[in-house]
Amino acid sequence: MNISGQDIIITGAASGIGLAMTRHLASLDARVWAIDRERALLDQAVADSRESTSAIRWVQCDVGDERQVIETVASIEEESTGIDVLVNNAAVLRDQTLVSKLGRRIKKHALADWEETLRSNLTGTFLMGREVAEAMVRAKRPGVIVNFSSVSRAGNPGQSAYAATKAAVDALTVTWSQELAVYRIRVAAIAPGFVETGMTQAIPELFLDRIREKTPLKRFGTLDEFSHTIQYVIENDYVNGRTLEVDGGLRF
Ligand SMILES: NC(=O)c1ccc[n+]([C@@H]2O[C@H](COP(=O)([O-])OP(=O)(O)OC[C@H]3O[C@@H](n4cnc5c(N)ncnc54)[C@H](O)[C@@H]3O)[C@@H](O)[C@H]2O)c1
Repeated sequence: MNISGQDIIITGAASGIGLAMTRHLASLDARVWAIDRERALLDQAVADSRESTSAIRWVQCDVGDERQVIETVASIEEESTGIDVLVNNAAVLRDQTLVSKLGRRIKKHALADWEETLRSNLTGTFLMGREVAEAMVRAKRPGVIVNFSSVSRAGNPGQSAYAATKAAVDALTVTWSQELAVYRIRVAAIAPGFVETGMTQAIPELFLDRIREKTPLKRFGTLDEFSHTIQYVIENDYVNGRTLEVDGGLRF
């Protein structure tokens, strides 16, 4: 698919990889609908914007909330020339072990963190995918859906909830690619290794150093490398039903 002139939704677009992809795709003449739930991050992204205001539309929406997703996708579909691409990038990280022994006390994984991770990472991907696919099928318009997985999808200590959602996102990618191909909708996923963003700020420096050391390329990925990857997945019409691993060779 040629990116120029397309209407592209990116979720989790007010920071990190989402913000970098938003700016990159806007620079390729796409109209980007940049969704995030955090008002402060959206305001900051707007204040830092150098792009023309027509290239990026900033939209506040919590992708884990069904009503907000239905209304947001419907209004973008109406205001745009029709949604061509969805990038399901929004996610949270609430790392903790299932149980950990601290002296005589045993700390248990908090249910609230488990539920919030599933809500934002998995239900959010499901709801956005469902609403955008419906709009594309209704309009008989071909499209592309790109989900964000992670190197953690194979399982990683301290990441019960996050790893489970990212494995599930891979399964959705395969399932949707098989269900939606008949409507000319491609579905693929990108599984990053590590990139320094707001998400990794909560990870202790010592742990980050160990991951860097474990990565064969001995460095983290850059935001530009992920902007390049999303461009490739959208443009290459034969990429379908697969998760692209962009992780410098890292394996846990
Ligand atoms: N940074 C890494 O090292 C890394 C590694 C592997 C995978 N990933 C994946 O890449 C993607 C981007 O990560 P990042 O590092 O840029 O993270 P980030 O924390 O910088 O950005 C995530 C954005 O998603 C938004 N968001 C979270 N929940 C939301 C919700 N319910 N509704 C709407 N917006 C919501 C946040 O407000 C934030 O702006 C994520 O899917 C993440 O899991 C990142």
